[in-house]
Amino acid sequence: MGDRDSYREHFFNHNWKTGRPPSQVTDACHWCQLRAFPTHKQYPVTIVNKTGDGATLPKDFRFITDSILTQGVRAAEASFRSGCACTDALACRYDGCECLSDMLWDEEEEEEEDEADDNDSNSDSEPEVRDKRQLNYANGNGKPNKRAKFAYHSQGAKAGLLRSRYLDSREPIYECHEGCACATSTDGDQMTDGDNACVNRVVERGRRIPLQIFRTEDRGWGVRTLVDLKKGQFVDRYLGEILTAREANHRRSVSTMARRKDVYLFALDKFSDADSLDSRLAGPPLECDGEFRAGPTRFINHSCSPNLRIFARVGDHADKHIHDLAFFTVRDISAGDELTFDYVDGIVNLAADARHHVEGMTPCLCKSANCRKFLW
Ligand SMILES: C[S@@+](CC[C@H](N)C(=O)[O-])C[C@H]1O[C@@H](n2cnc3c(N)ncnc32)[C@H](O)[C@@H]1O
Ligand SMILES: [Zn+2]
Ligand SMILES: [Zn+2]
Ligand SMILES: [Zn+2]
Ligand SMILES: [Zn+2]
Repeated sequence: MGDRDSYREHFFNHNWKTGRPPSQVTDACHWCQLRAFPTHKQYPVTIVNKTGDGATLPKDFRFITDSILTQGVRAAEASFRSGCACTDALACRYDGCECLSDMLWDEEEEEEEDEADDNDSNSDSEPEVRDKRQLNYANGNGKPNKRAKFAYHSQGAKAGLLRSRYLDSREPIYECHEGCACATSTDGDQMTDGDNACVNRVVERGRRIPLQIFRTEDRGWGVRTLVDLKKGQFVDRYLGEILTAREANHRRSVSTMARRKDVYLFALDKFSDADSLDSRLAGPPLECDGEFRAGPTRFINHSCSPNLRIFARVGDHADKHIHDLAFFTVRDISAGDELTFDYVDGIVNLAADARHHVEGMTPCLCKSANCRKFLW
């Protein structure tokens, strides 16, 4: 059945008017699965295939809205969980917020960047910025006693965007979460200065943009944004089945895709440390498998000149072993453009490799000027 036929099947036979259809129907229909997303009305995910090849999404794939913890994987026990005690809307920007205690920051450079950030943000917000400066230097000895520490811009045109310092780094992002005292946004969308919502909950609020999964001419399915995106904007998380290292290796060994299974497996290794006293961080990391269960970002293709990058994001510090994988834009992107990320994040010098063993390697079709020519 081609794309259009399957959609007609959904449109005419899967009736949502009287509530959600039975799970046998939704389980087998990708449109029903997307229709069931809680943000479907505001930020729909659509699927189109205009290539005429009649391809549909893989039958054994199912859309999910949260990662699935598989056997042997557990979130932290309630007694180990904690959150910040901040009640002031702005407090979760600063040093005193427990959620930010592990964030690295260079004080001097931070001041510089704050300056630059303030200068190119909305001029309407300037008087308020000046107030905050005074707050920063409130201890009277000329030294800041409150260093802005969190990863996002909090006001003006860039509110909610990742600061350039973080975009250029591989630092993890620590956000507030359900265990914190600070307030979540009241309108569930844009955080405004007025609603006393904590500004440090960008990934937690989830995807706020419509996406389209489309059939490319030469690389299978891909994903495009249907709205303009700004540099530093959060797109969505990478979801999947969270596997123990053992199960991930097992799936690699039985995969018919051989080495290519790795394109769907992301190691949650941002906090892995052989010397850690926490056995969950000292051992081999858990992995997130998006091949069979995932969100729309599982269909994002590789580019050697990508417009997205993946960041590790942590809510409760006790859950570092199951940290999130969050896609942010690294430049402005226009509505209709395909979203891409670097599958090896530029770390491996594949171009040099390629000169030696071309046989059996997969050509990269990203078409960027600095294409490394091979995916792996
Ligand atoms: C994670 S999937 C992305 C979605 C995929 N296009 C699909 O239809 O399911 C990765 C696969 O997409 C294809 N792919 C992604 N980026 C590519 C690129 N730059 N050049 C060639 N193939 C690419 C390769 O087949 C790769 O194994
Ligand atoms: Zn806080
Ligand atoms: Zn918090
Ligand atoms: Zn907070
Ligand atoms: Zn390329």
